[in-house]
Amino acid sequence: MTPEELKALVRTVPGFPQPGIQFRDITPLLAHAKGLAGSITALADLARGVEAQAVAGIEARGFIFGTALALELGLGFVPLRKPGKLPVATISEDYALEYGTARLELDPTLIERGERVLLVDDLLATGGTATAGMRLLRRAGAIVEHALFLIDLPDLPGRAALADEGVAAHAVMA
Ligand code: PRP
Ligand code: ADE
Repeated sequence: MTPEELKALVRTVPGFPQPGIQFRDITPLLAHAKGLAGSITALADLARGVEAQAVAGIEARGFIFGTALALELGLGFVPLRKPGKLPVATISEDYALEYGTARLELDPTLIERGERVLLVDDLLATGGTATAGMRLLRRAGAIVEHALFLIDLPDLPGRAALADEGVAAHAVMA
């Protein structure tokens, strides 16, 4: 599927979860067999030429795309989790979202020092979530230079925020 066909499967819901937000709802794309497969193929195309030994995905929507992409690339998957879910010692980062604040946690023993990790999420908005994920991975010893997204919201500063941290953002659609 083309990026335009994939984009047509993403539903925009005004005013969710707060007034003023144009929420990009990926669930119609996930429920569409060709849309789901096409989105993973498109992410894998973006990953071509990027050296990586593992994929890390951000809970929850980043788990869907990150796990499928890891399988496609023949790599393992490292989950960056919302608070209180991991049963072992974790490191954590707090961050701000378009609509609130949140925290991510990582089990640092899942990362080998110096391994190149490709960060994956469904959507890049302010970049707060991806920046927190990148920081956690780097604190655990990973090299993080590339992040993949299905959707980049170009009116928001996520791409520039990641670039400031030395991370190149790649997205299937804007
Ligand atoms: C959404 C989305 C990204 C993040 C992007 O996650 O899946 O992770 O917001 O926003 P940012 O670039 O401004 O940080 P959300 O926290 O809503 O969680 P979910 O995946 O559990 O729905
Ligand atoms: N996460 C942050 N901003 C978002 C938006 N506008 N739509 C969907 N997920 C988001």
